[in-house]
Amino acid sequence: MCGIIGYLGKKDALPILEKGLERLDYRGYDSAGVSVLDGGSFNTVKKPGRMDNLKEALKQTSMPGSLGLGHTRWATHGEVNEVNAHPHWDCRQEIALVHNGIIENYRPLKEMLIKQGHVFVSETDTEVIAHLIESYYEGDLEQAVLKALPQLQGSYALMVASKKEPDKIIAARMLSPLILGIAKDGYYLASDATALVDEAALVIYLEDGEVAVIRKQGFEIKDFKGLIKSKTTSALSWSGPAVDKKGFAHFMLKEIYEQPEVIKKNIEIYTEKDTVDFSIDQRFFQDIDRITIVACGTAYHAGLLAEYMIEEIAGIPVTVDTSSEFRYRNFVPEAKTLFVCISQSGETADTLAGLRLAKEFGFKTLAMVNVENSTIAREADKVIYTNAGPEIGVASTKAYLSQIIVLQLLALKLTHLYRKQLPGFYYRYFTELKKIPLYLEKILAEAPVIESLAEELQKASNFLYLGRGINYPNALEGALKLKEISYIHAEGYAGGEMKHGPIALIDKELPVIAISPAGRVRDKMLSNMLEVKARQGKIVGIITEGDSDLMQACYKTIPVPFAEEHLSTMLVPLPLQLLAYYIAAKKGCDVDKPRNLAKSVTVE
Ligand code: AGP
Repeated sequence: MCGIIGYLGKKDALPILEKGLERLDYRGYDSAGVSVLDGGSFNTVKKPGRMDNLKEALKQTSMPGSLGLGHTRWATHGEVNEVNAHPHWDCRQEIALVHNGIIENYRPLKEMLIKQGHVFVSETDTEVIAHLIESYYEGDLEQAVLKALPQLQGSYALMVASKKEPDKIIAARMLSPLILGIAKDGYYLASDATALVDEAALVIYLEDGEVAVIRKQGFEIKDFKGLIKSKTTSALSWSGPAVDKKGFAHFMLKEIYEQPEVIKKNIEIYTEKDTVDFSIDQRFFQDIDRITIVACGTAYHAGLLAEYMIEEIAGIPVTVDTSSEFRYRNFVPEAKTLFVCISQSGETADTLAGLRLAKEFGFKTLAMVNVENSTIAREADKVIYTNAGPEIGVASTKAYLSQIIVLQLLALKLTHLYRKQLPGFYYRYFTELKKIPLYLEKILAEAPVIESLAEELQKASNFLYLGRGINYPNALEGALKLKEISYIHAEGYAGGEMKHGPIALIDKELPVIAISPAGRVRDKMLSNMLEVKARQGKIVGIITEGDSDLMQACYKTIPVPFAEEHLSTMLVPLPLQLLAYYIAAKKGCDVDKPRNLAKSVTVE
């Protein structure tokens, strides 16, 4: 999952590329590079490692010119080094190219091109595209690109320029996101909207099979046959501050603190007194016998959590699957299925593939997405936005919470449609929901306590997270948060399952995070905690404030305000996020850009 940026206009390209790459490097940060066309030649700087390395190198050189390409890499083919960093070239160093995606048939293409006499310098799949375009180049870059594209199998968002045609950038999209920004000073191309914030007010989202031909005087969008396509422009809804850290040490911490607002915003947008309105025709939600939820990572945990609530209060059977499993299992399609895919980025390759498979099955498809106009949002029959705002930190926090509230509102809407008699809980939920932002603020006020606990626990080499019932998925999520930003191994487990193996892990060194707010399974969690304590386990309890029995069982506790257990699922993630954040920060990890990760997994 890389970040690509291009500019062609009246301004100097380099500062635009640098700023754009800084905004995009959450998509991948193994190496970075820029090329700027100055008159008849490209100046290029590429550096392995983070953007800072590239910025340092750029201070040593001047790169005038108003056409430029930039790239920040998440390595798929080839080591992390300068040679494999993008941009990549043809043999004559006349054609520069940046790419996000994977060319699955790059090996046979490379062999064919080597036989034609092409000389390769890198191990990447991307370099093959540059040489393939070169092999078709007869003075018209657009035509050469259109001839090369049908040969490519796999995913790509690419941008290409030639020093022989210094007033043109050609871009193409297949399965990887690509956006065109239209500004007074020129045209921007980027992997996603975060790079265009404060630069381009109007944007065009390219679809699969589309090519953008950008010139200083204007642009055209075509299909891969070269036929002109008419596209609508959209206004960019995010503003600069939304993608800046605003004084926080990390984006992740800022986004953790934004969570009360995220809840308030979704309450405002989707609820009216005690009804839920997604601005989707009621008939879309009718005549459903089964719901299948498909997602990855954190979004998958939100789906697991929704299963408990939808089945319990709406009485509709739900299955939840990771996208990568769903797309390859021999799924038994049932006619009246509502397919729900959850994705913060709306670009996750496995989830997009699952959505496309569901459409082949003829399912009604509903996307729950944070990034507006993303691919998944555009391809599903209906979309419900989760309104978390841009989430830059690679580890998902506010987006997860937004997924929980929107999924719970979906459960309530389905209850209203499918239950003849509304349970008392239905009305209580809306009353309780309004208190959640305040409860989150109260927990945030405890951050210093959680930080000191992190100081103590940061040396542990393993963690066990336990939860039961509707909070069991939060145990999985808490473990994921810790491991993905601190690199400490952590495992989430159902509390009742601990006796069937993981209890062997318990000793005084192993912190056990026990999620046990008030609710139906609180007593069962107490039993599990006592089993841990009996073996000198060190329990950190996420408990409802004032629960003295649990406090006695725990080594330390992080209290959360009392809420019905369904709503407690929106309180529990916050202490888990803060604990993971502080441990990772104290270990000196790069919290916003953890090693080996990327924000949007747009490859399989
Ligand atoms: C969560 O902290 C991770 N960054 C990752 O698991 C993420 O949730 C997953 O890749 C799904 O991404 P999506 O929501 O954009 O589809």
